[in-house]
Amino acid sequence: MILKDVFENNQKWIQDKLATNDKYFEELGSGQNPDLLYIGCSDSRVTAEDLMGLGPGDVFVHRNIANMVVATDLNAMSVIEYAVKYLEVKHVVVCGHYVCGGVKAAMQSADLGILNPWLRNIRDVYRIHKNELNKIESEDEKYDRLVELNVQEQCVNLMKTAVVQKAFRERGLKVHGWVFDVRTGKLIDLNIDVDSILENVREIYHLD
Ligand code: CO
Repeated sequence: MILKDVFENNQKWIQDKLATNDKYFEELGSGQNPDLLYIGCSDSRVTAEDLMGLGPGDVFVHRNIANMVVATDLNAMSVIEYAVKYLEVKHVVVCGHYVCGGVKAAMQSADLGILNPWLRNIRDVYRIHKNELNKIESEDEKYDRLVELNVQEQCVNLMKTAVVQKAFRERGLKVHGWVFDVRTGKLIDLNIDVDSILENVREIYHLD
């Protein structure tokens, strides 16, 4: 890949879009009304819209290392607030992926500088689910399971925010936890029981 290709690709992409609809960019320019907020990993192999077969205008996207929802992350919190309160998305998805480098790093003993506080959040997920994870003998299986549990805990973190609690109650906002398997291309719904999560967190984290 060279950067010159990117601009040539862009010209071709414009022509392709206009060939199917000559008002394509006029329509894009008139505004957005996505149904879905996608929170995923920055990993180059996990392309948000592409793997779902969706295109421009379909998804509001936030990506960071290991698809985290951290309460002090002004960036993620702003994305969630804007998408849920103002764009009124119908669904929020946390999408993790197997062979996630961020999750792997959190499983190892290493000083990674500025990454330490970020990865600490994944180590916290490990601590919360230590009993289950330590029973898994295979390191690969443990790695896969931590990816899944991390998605689950980030869904919990979503449910701890006032804006999500309010939209959940008032207009039935749906929260989903998915995992993308880079090794097969398959997108998997973890079928996380958001109702019982909300019940559990409401006791302590009830804001609204
Ligand atoms: Co990742």
